[in-house]
Amino acid sequence: MDKRKIILDCDPGHDDAIAILLCGAAKNIDLLALTVVSGNQTLEKTARNALNVSRFLGIHCPIASGAKNPLVRSRLNCGEIHGESGLDGFEFPEYELDYDKRSAALLIRDVALQNEKITIVTTGPMTNLATALLKYPEIKSHIDEIVLMGGSTSGGNLTPYAEFNILADPDAADICFKAGLRMKMVGLNVTRKALVLPSVMEQMSKVDTSAAKLFIALMKFFNKTQNEVFGLPAGPLHDPLTIASMMDESIVTFKPMDVRIALEEGEHYGETVCTPSSDSKIQVAVDVDLKAYWSLIEKALSSFR
Ligand code: RIB
Ligand code: CA
Repeated sequence: MDKRKIILDCDPGHDDAIAILLCGAAKNIDLLALTVVSGNQTLEKTARNALNVSRFLGIHCPIASGAKNPLVRSRLNCGEIHGESGLDGFEFPEYELDYDKRSAALLIRDVALQNEKITIVTTGPMTNLATALLKYPEIKSHIDEIVLMGGSTSGGNLTPYAEFNILADPDAADICFKAGLRMKMVGLNVTRKALVLPSVMEQMSKVDTSAAKLFIALMKFFNKTQNEVFGLPAGPLHDPLTIASMMDESIVTFKPMDVRIALEEGEHYGETVCTPSSDSKIQVAVDVDLKAYWSLIEKALSSFR
């Protein structure tokens, strides 16, 4: 079976880290490159976190850092959830910071042009992808699909209407959503159902691998801050759902919708306004099979040494 070639653009971030882990475990995914963006923490920290997680899991694809700041608005970070390092809760060994010398946008361009068809997954603000589309429009014919964690059909997290990844760079999201490419949007309306509850922690703690130990340590921190900041009973495992939806297409259910990014100043700024539309190229997640999601994660954790 041909593997799906992907680039993951991320802002690790606890849930991004598990998305990287799934890429390393997936039998039907070929992770060609990791690109990093400022989001959950500043770019220097998210880049180091992406490298630490990758090297800890034996993932050696190129890693390039990208945008320090959003295209237009002021920078937004989320240290209250992800901690000072952006990935608090686990001490990594010292790895050589062997980042790719190219910018994220240039690495996206080079990888896209070297491949017939790739999927670009974003699990942070969409600044790097928007920059690549603006600077190198020739990549569009090589992009089979964009799969993103972001937005929501039913209310935000950072504001009552806006989800963090979109709110942190709504202009970049607008450029990506208007690029005319096939998209899958996995939003809060679905990801907030995937809470890492004690029953899930119990299930994963039975796996005796280094990857499982990483999962438990990171989720302990993530659950604590999600409860302190948002009053949630546990952390919603947002980002890995993008990867899981490609590993097993039965896990996430999508429906075609038109999606408009609210750029007008005011309380709706950064909202993804979703309207069902049968001929839209944008598929929006509407449900998740949680039992299958957790068993996919358990299997992934077991697949590492
Ligand atoms: O709103 C949730 C999203 O914002 C996730 O991608 C999380 O990692 C943060 O980037
Ligand atoms: Ca993220």
